[in-house]
Amino acid sequence: MEVKKLMIIGAGQMGSGIAQVCAQAGYEVLLNDLKDELVRRGLGVIEKNLSRQVQKERLTDGEKAEILQRISKSTNLQDAQDVDLVIEAAVENMDVKCKIFSHLDRIAPAHTILATNTSSLPITEIAAATNRPEKVIGMHFMNPVPVMKLVEIIRGLATADEVYQTIEEITHTLSKVPVEVNDFPGFVANRVLMPMINEAIYTLYEGVATKEAIDEVMKLGMNHPMGPLTLADFIGLDTCLYIMETLHDGFGDDKYRPCPLLRKYVKAGWLGKKTGRGFYTYD
Ligand code: CAA
Ligand code: NAD
Repeated sequence: MEVKKLMIIGAGQMGSGIAQVCAQAGYEVLLNDLKDELVRRGLGVIEKNLSRQVQKERLTDGEKAEILQRISKSTNLQDAQDVDLVIEAAVENMDVKCKIFSHLDRIAPAHTILATNTSSLPITEIAAATNRPEKVIGMHFMNPVPVMKLVEIIRGLATADEVYQTIEEITHTLSKVPVEVNDFPGFVANRVLMPMINEAIYTLYEGVATKEAIDEVMKLGMNHPMGPLTLADFIGLDTCLYIMETLHDGFGDDKYRPCPLLRKYVKAGWLGKKTGRGFYTYD
């Protein structure tokens, strides 16, 4: 299947990163969010990332301009009427994703693949909101998208083989490494990562150590590039909570119970780096 034009839903940290790498790989990209100012914010991040590459002499000014020209703004899902692939990167919430997929299913051409960048939600359930479950697939990028090599690819129960192959090929064209995993809550990445982050939050909650000490132990002791509390702020505490809730609901085991401190921070609007405050504060 030939894919030339893509639509990315959600211009937040993941959607903007995905739009950037797709445009850099030569695809025509429509970047969609609820409001024009949100799309412009996402484009601003892409512009900044590309300028850094120009400074480092990895791109010329001309190449940067060409990449930016390949990205168009959208605030209307109706724009999916002439795209070959949609990658959804809106908020980690099943109701929101099902509404988006059901809407896209009515608008996008029959050949269009509908992929989701969900961190943890069942692909099969999202696919069931459409009349094309064979064309729905998980394409889970890692944050920050321009840097991280992995894309977890997750088939729903009905995903067609040719859809899987197309997504695998596209992942290669983005210079990323696809790894196929099965459709279970949290897949592999967040089944393993998020309980560690949640445990780090419990460690803070129970007063075992300060946030700085917890992060230092994991950075210096385990060679992690970021401590777990810094990483939680980087991912977004709302996203961390949604993922823990998906694991808890999906497996029913108490070991996945979200830490009350995580819930409290999300209720306070302390969502991490993106809101300027989480476990740490940011300018
Ligand atoms: N966007 C684009 N590029 C970025 C970036 C960003 N947000 N942050 C850093 N970079 C680039 C820098 O420009 C730099 O590029 P070059 O080496 O080409 O010059 C490179 O990354 C390294 O950056 P720094 O030297 O500034 O900083 P660093 O060495 O500390 O690396 C990091 C930054 C790559 C983010 C590193 O700290 C890291 O790997 N952290 C862990 C990230 C991680 O675990 N991601 C997975 C999160 S979980 C997930 O994504 C799944 C989910 O569903 C929640
Ligand atoms: P974010 O909060 O930075 O951005 C989400 C964006 O989606 C916002 O700009 C919001 O306005 C937009 N949005 C919400 N509802 C929408 C709708 N109906 N239509 C269009 N846009 C809508 O979140 P993020 O960190 O970019 O996460 C997005 C998705 O990617 C989530 O499913 C998340 O689980 C997943 N993900 C996140 C990470 C991470 O580290 N943050 C990593 C991998 C996957």
